[in-house]
Amino acid sequence: APTLRDVADDNDIRIGAAAAADPIREDFQYRDALREYNAVTAENAMKIGPLRPDEHTYDFEDGDLIAEFAREHDMYFRGHTLVWHNQLPEWLVPFQYTDRELRRLLEDHVRTVAGRYAGDVDTWDVVNEAVADDGGLRETPWLRAFGEEYLDKAFGWAHQSAPEADLFYNDYGADGINDKSDEIYELVSGMLDRGVPIDGVGLQLHALHDPVDPDSVAENIERFKDLGLAVEITEMDVAYTAEDPPEDHLTVQADYYREIVEKANEAGCDTIVAWGVSDQHSWIPHFDDTLTEDPLLLDDSYDRKPAYDAIVDLLS
Ligand code: G3I
Repeated sequence: APTLRDVADDNDIRIGAAAAADPIREDFQYRDALREYNAVTAENAMKIGPLRPDEHTYDFEDGDLIAEFAREHDMYFRGHTLVWHNQLPEWLVPFQYTDRELRRLLEDHVRTVAGRYAGDVDTWDVVNEAVADDGGLRETPWLRAFGEEYLDKAFGWAHQSAPEADLFYNDYGADGINDKSDEIYELVSGMLDRGVPIDGVGLQLHALHDPVDPDSVAENIERFKDLGLAVEITEMDVAYTAEDPPEDHLTVQADYYREIVEKANEAGCDTIVAWGVSDQHSWIPHFDDTLTEDPLLLDDSYDRKPAYDAIVDLLS
């Protein structure tokens, strides 16, 4: 049977997975499985915490390894993420820094990392999760230090350091039409009006507990496309309430994956990335034990799940 990569290549779309450096180094089965996708995102290796063991050191080893894998296997490579409030290094205790120091630190970070991977990273999640769940910009060290203009600035620095890369705003809980995606729509519209070099919006699509309606996702994709932006599904996984999952949940999950790929693609989204290579590597069991533990396309033993087959079937 064809792999996801075969059918994705044939259809000129990208189906990807988030990946980590250690299993690429250590596990040949993981490497083989990762090659079944034609796109890859660095799940953690390019975030500020993992990249910067101390204030004056950048440790690019893991990021470089994933970049090299993507290059060798001719995969579309998503960089994740230049500016986030989470996974900050331990030494970066915001109240120990003045606003001015934080501004210098972020600018240096964005320029250095975007510059390092210029030519490797096709698309950067420049700013991740800047909108608060209850509206407005999230309170972060970056908002404190710069005010709202940190987003515009980050896109500007990234563009200068990696002029070829596509630059995205990425967020969760904004997959369909809702208050949060309305707010992101306003946010990126404003950026476009100001001439900020933004190319697209990433919808994470962590479909947890009660998956969002695919028609609403399609409608949401269309409105961003109408602004002239690209839209990608960047961190997809599908997990149900563990206590009360749907009967035969792997089949229900497969139908959902298939419907999302189909409708997103019809709406003009050509890239869908699953948040992990196989169920063995999902973040979900580590973070939320109320969810089913098999949210991805390959199972713990790297065998194809109904969801994998459903996408292959759709695209064949
Ligand atoms: O690498 C260290 C390891 O050295 C250490 O021994 C171990 C002990 O806990 O921790 C390891 O780091 C963990 C890392 O994942 C790698 O497994 C971190 O503690 C843990 O916080 C980190 O979690 C990541 C999470 O982002 C951080 O918020 C998840 O893997 C990653 O999947 C998740 O991804 C985010 C996206 O970036 C943004 N959108 C939401 C998504 C899910 O939360």
